[in-house]
Amino acid sequence: MARANSNQIQAAGYVVFRREAGGGLSYLLLRATKHGEWGFPKGHADPGEDDRATARRETREECGLDIPTGHPWFLVEITYRVRKGPKTVIYFGAEAPPGDVVLSREHDRSAWLPYHKASPLLPHENSRKVLDRAAVFFKDPALRDRRPLADARALLVRHVGADAPVVAHSAQVAAMAHDLALGWGFGGSGSSGSGSGSGADVAAACGWLHDIGRARTHDARHPLEGFLIASAEGWAGWAAPCLSHYVKGRDFEEFADGELGTAMFLACDLLTFTPLEKCVALADFLAAGARRVSMETRFDDLVARYGPSRFLDRSLEVSRELAAEWEAASGENLYDTLRIS
Ligand SMILES: [Fe+2]
Repeated sequence: MARANSNQIQAAGYVVFRREAGGGLSYLLLRATKHGEWGFPKGHADPGEDDRATARRETREECGLDIPTGHPWFLVEITYRVRKGPKTVIYFGAEAPPGDVVLSREHDRSAWLPYHKASPLLPHENSRKVLDRAAVFFKDPALRDRRPLADARALLVRHVGADAPVVAHSAQVAAMAHDLALGWGFGGSGSSGSGSGSGADVAAACGWLHDIGRARTHDARHPLEGFLIASAEGWAGWAAPCLSHYVKGRDFEEFADGELGTAMFLACDLLTFTPLEKCVALADFLAAGARRVSMETRFDDLVARYGPSRFLDRSLEVSRELAAEWEAASGENLYDTLRIS
């Protein structure tokens, strides 16, 4: 949107990323010819131009990539002072479109860099925050370092207490998510991206944390609260399943929670339902409290607690789809593997 305040310098740009073969992301940085600083493609708005149009034009001019809109939910605004006054930059985010980077005279180098190489090159805290936000939003596995599984359990216990029923429930979800990851074929060491340890252990850690939001509320806000707790505790790389075990791969249009749904979609790229998240979401639909149960039993249990709803009907449908997908990928029977009778 064009700003009414003419003193405000307005600029917009893009965090452009690429998915690498190992599942990690790399980000496009450009080095300014004038001062040698690395940053994202961005530039000043023309009079009357809206932010997305500015970001598109500047990105095309500076690196030759044409990005019509970018991800609908990713937007980071930063404000800082320059000599002429306060300056606001709006960053959108997008996966790179096909085509090569072609620099203008404004930049003398470009690079696609993974998170841990891109971050130290960015000279300002503001732009490092933009990168951090993109890495969380787009679920970059580089945010996950190797951590003992016991730390995820300890974090949950610290927030909910050792005796809370959600601890036993999460233990079951963690154990099943672990086995589902093995069956889905991304359980091995390193297969979920660099530095993230075994994919099955990552799935288990996410299982431990998926309901951590219940420390604050049992209502429909628990996914968002969980995401916020995990992120604030330095577990941002594991936080997406807090949201997605609830959203379960539904399209935004069919997600009926209004403002809450919007807030969840703004926090994370929930339009992309990763295999890791599928493991946690499916495991959660096979655990009624601390018991392993069939999807139908879990469904009945949820209906008994919350009343029938289109939302729960769809949860059962999605879980059945996930189960079929898992059985096709693993060649195993879901209930046999998880010892559910
Ligand atoms: Fe759960």
